[in-house]
Amino acid sequence: MQEQELQALLSQLSPEEKIGQLVQLPASFQEEGNATGPAMQMGLTQEDLALAGSYLGLIGAKKLRKLQETYMARHPHHIPLLFMADIINGYRTVFPIPLAQSCMFDPALVEACASIAAKETAASGVHVTFSPMADLSRDARWGRVMEGGGEDPFVSGQTAAAMVRGYQGKDIRDKGKIGACLKHFAGYGAPEGGRDYNNAELSERTLREDYLPAYRAAVDAGCALVMPSFNTLDRVPSAANAWLLKDILRKEMGFSGMVISDWSAVAELIPHGIARDEKEAAYLALRAGVDMDMSSPVYIKNLKALVEAGKIPLQWIDEAVLRVLTLKNKLGLFENPFKDLDENEESALHLCEAHRQAARKCAEKSFVLLKNEGSLLPLAEPGETAWIGPYVDTQMLNGAWSIFADDGDTLSLRSALALHEKTKNAPTAVGCAIADPDSPVQGFMSAVSLSGVDEAQALREAAALAQKAKNVVLALGEHRECSGEAASRGTLTLPKCQLKLLDSIAEVNPNIIVLLFTGRPLDIRAVQEKAKAILLCWLPGTEGASAAVRTVLGEASPSGRLSMAFPYCVGQLPLHYNHLRTGRPYSGDYKAGRFGSKYQDIPNDPLYPFGFGLTYTEFAYGPVTLSQSSIKKGGGLTASVTVTNVGKRPGEETVQLYLRDECGSVARPVRTLKAFEQVTLKPGESRRVSFRIDESMLRFYDIHMAYTSEPGDFTVFIGPDSRTEKGARFTLKEE
Ligand code: GLC
Repeated sequence: MQEQELQALLSQLSPEEKIGQLVQLPASFQEEGNATGPAMQMGLTQEDLALAGSYLGLIGAKKLRKLQETYMARHPHHIPLLFMADIINGYRTVFPIPLAQSCMFDPALVEACASIAAKETAASGVHVTFSPMADLSRDARWGRVMEGGGEDPFVSGQTAAAMVRGYQGKDIRDKGKIGACLKHFAGYGAPEGGRDYNNAELSERTLREDYLPAYRAAVDAGCALVMPSFNTLDRVPSAANAWLLKDILRKEMGFSGMVISDWSAVAELIPHGIARDEKEAAYLALRAGVDMDMSSPVYIKNLKALVEAGKIPLQWIDEAVLRVLTLKNKLGLFENPFKDLDENEESALHLCEAHRQAARKCAEKSFVLLKNEGSLLPLAEPGETAWIGPYVDTQMLNGAWSIFADDGDTLSLRSALALHEKTKNAPTAVGCAIADPDSPVQGFMSAVSLSGVDEAQALREAAALAQKAKNVVLALGEHRECSGEAASRGTLTLPKCQLKLLDSIAEVNPNIIVLLFTGRPLDIRAVQEKAKAILLCWLPGTEGASAAVRTVLGEASPSGRLSMAFPYCVGQLPLHYNHLRTGRPYSGDYKAGRFGSKYQDIPNDPLYPFGFGLTYTEFAYGPVTLSQSSIKKGGGLTASVTVTNVGKRPGEETVQLYLRDECGSVARPVRTLKAFEQVTLKPGESRRVSFRIDESMLRFYDIHMAYTSEPGDFTVFIGPDSRTEKGARFTLKEE
């Protein structure tokens, strides 16, 4: 439809029809779904339902075809429904959680996975996904870290932008493409206390410097929608924050797409205490720029009266409706309301071999090798290895948001072992349950059954197996329902039953390789102490078990890098590598001296830092050289280093470039990641890796909040992780 035809359609709509386009109903209205929050108490009329413009959480080609046909036939102007859903890390073929994907430091592969997710989703008739989540987070107590790109603005932004490109391609009208909804704007990843939905206390400078860049990268990649966050920022909930949604998102970032609230977030302006009633909530949200009200009755029950009372100009509604109609038009729904919906394509694409292969490749590349004492991995003699632990038997390897997938499509480790020639007779034992019997874990989209394991017997069997084996692969981790939405934790250790199993195994066998399955960084000091090798597998998805077996056997080589640090313990949180120096910088030894910015009882440094990850070989870095020792505004230089594979196996190294501004008109971080490049080298092979450093990379929000660079000295670090000290200095000259 042409722009003027959309305008003409808008002018023909009744007020009720216009307002209906601004409402998204939950799946529960069409089926026994799992509505949360006030959605079930909406009390809408049948007419309200008939005029609604969108549904979320409904999937399946057959069902959506029927629903679209029914709705369009009944709608006075036959406007097609918009179907949206949470496709966070794949649809039926499940990929590693986004936090794991960000550890690949490989935007092209992230994009490829998102493209597959879009194909499977589009064939099922869904038009938009509520992804990517670009909420920078420095606090692993917050369960939603699993959905984002970690603690660094650059990696988070690269990951989010790659997902937008993968979902949307060049045109969302194209076959197999869907709209991407960036979320949760903004600062949702910084809740006080790591408690979900809590206030985010960020200065404007910190918001702009650290938290907005990842969202901006997704907007620059062309995301079709944006979802404001639940949290307050400067004490204003995002759904009512005109500064955020209009001044920053639309004016500064140039976003022109559709803004959809989070689930019942418009209604929640009342419990936030900034709206006395639903009428005021509707007024505040529409004025701030929320176009569509997800799963709350506020818009559909109050906007008409507000317009009639002259409290809201009809123009506000028309502008919002036009953005909704424009999105439907960009998807081509007026010409083809079913877009790519295709029952045959749906069954052909879902979990097809090519998609499974891609999921396995992504899982292998997202694993992070944290420890490998004596190069115990890859296993030389897999036949003499026992595979033990609660993650040996479970098929729950998908992240908590894999709500449309079936765990039954996922191999367990035990099944993957049985399929591999070298491990088909490997002895296995569960050893203990995944969670403690008194664990408070509740299900997100499904009930959690903490399977009754006879702990004493399981422990005995496991220890007996371990005693006879040369090596033990110990598969441990947090329950997948312990991360995701509304899954904040005040402690980060493994369940007591698993720690007990670890101790029992360590008593009888020193050669322990831990496979760690988790949706968030954990406190794994006990694991580090007792295991010779630790392979972080995150929640790796449909093919995660096969990927883990191949990696342990050396058929795949780990190359992942931590996009979010593993803390020494929960007391360090929030934690990030690009911190400020303070006037009393940490000396590196918390026991040395008193008057430093440190703790008395724990180090400042994380157990495993941002950017860290081992490989099955070793790399050596030469000195950092610069093409020149100074640059001017608008200028730049080249920084280079030679990387050599000094080990015995081929490997992939993620070479990271950090910059430090030695002095500024405001305090500057100790270093900030500005670029990375991956090189694959054979044993003995060297590669010269060069990075372009432009003056624009030196810019920041100065004392006057101007985004600019300031003359002075800068240090370039190039190395394998955020601790590297190999550097060289250059100067940005006065104009
Ligand atoms: C949830 C989440 C959001 C999700 C939406 C729809 O509350 O905050 O990320 O996309 O509701 O399910």
